[in-house]
Amino acid sequence: KNDPVVMGIETSCDETGVGIVRGHELLADAIASSVDEHARFGGVVPEVASRAHLEAMVPTVQRALDDAGLTLGDLDGIAVTAGPGLAGALMVGVGAAKAYSIATGVPLYGVNHLSAHIAVDTLENGPIPEPAIGLLVSGGHSTIMMVEDLAGKVVQLGASIDDAAGEAFDKVARLLGLPFPGGPYIDRAAKEGDRAFVEFPRGLSAAKDQEKHRYDFSFSGLKTAVARWIEARRADGEDVPVNDVAAAFQEAVCDVLTRKAILAAKEHGVETILLGGGVAANSRLRGLAAERAEKAGLTLRYPRPKLCTDNGAMVAALGSHLVAAGVAPSRIDFPANSSMD
Ligand code: KG4
Ligand code: ZN
Repeated sequence: KNDPVVMGIETSCDETGVGIVRGHELLADAIASSVDEHARFGGVVPEVASRAHLEAMVPTVQRALDDAGLTLGDLDGIAVTAGPGLAGALMVGVGAAKAYSIATGVPLYGVNHLSAHIAVDTLENGPIPEPAIGLLVSGGHSTIMMVEDLAGKVVQLGASIDDAAGEAFDKVARLLGLPFPGGPYIDRAAKEGDRAFVEFPRGLSAAKDQEKHRYDFSFSGLKTAVARWIEARRADGEDVPVNDVAAAFQEAVCDVLTRKAILAAKEHGVETILLGGGVAANSRLRGLAAERAEKAGLTLRYPRPKLCTDNGAMVAALGSHLVAAGVAPSRIDFPANSSMD
């Protein structure tokens, strides 16, 4: 087959990811993570992440090529996350991708991290029907995207005005004494808990927020509410029921995320909703989204959890889509852009 073979490089946060795809086929997905180095700080430390990317970059590229049984000369394109993300971390990936491209003559594509989170779904479920609504929820972002054209027009309809959903998961996990990153631990604990145990606040759901913040999210009030609840409980000398608090917190997050994503789809006459980003690995988010999408007559798609969190395959998937769509490569001097939208 003549499907483009593309290598994707991802270094926007704490994962050094290098993926290789042929068309929609995943050939390699190599990842080196510095997550353990950040755990004791309770969050990603940018300088630590940049250094880790620098050390991991070349070996991870080599591992991906070995896994795919290819050499650099076999590539039709190199794609790299140009932004958004941590500036110093992005620069490592962008610098490396430029070096590989210049050395080999393989065309280079600087791509958007959020669009890549959407594109990765093609590796699992094939071409994305356009338009589609993307609900992208990770440690850095909680956005509702309108995917008019994955190769060119992906527009943000709404976003978190404070903490990202994943950030809220990580902070609440910390309050509950769970390890970092807390999302997966909350997910697990919540399975044994009662999601109706407490009704935590649903941010930006009030009638007064329906105009200006229709598709926006807010999670810092929720985090504070959970913190207060735990404090009050401890002040009374009582134990904190970790599983129940995890379940009730998770329910509040998943409720607003799915409700607003479905609202966006309905109001824009869009039939497909796609989940992406690390929090899209959450079992309750998947379950509730499936339930509500079915009720609304919408198609829901999401990739397997491993492809939801940051990885190189998602960047390769978007790169391959751009090559196939005949999009021109990026100029070699394109910058890493930490606030790219
Ligand atoms: O997409 P990602 O790997 O990196 C960013 O771009 O931020 O997302 C990481 C975030 C973390 O906050 C982590 O706690 C969260 O995704 N996460 C989850 C789950 N798995 C990862 N949150 C809830 N439930 C999960 N199962
Ligand atoms: Zn991400």
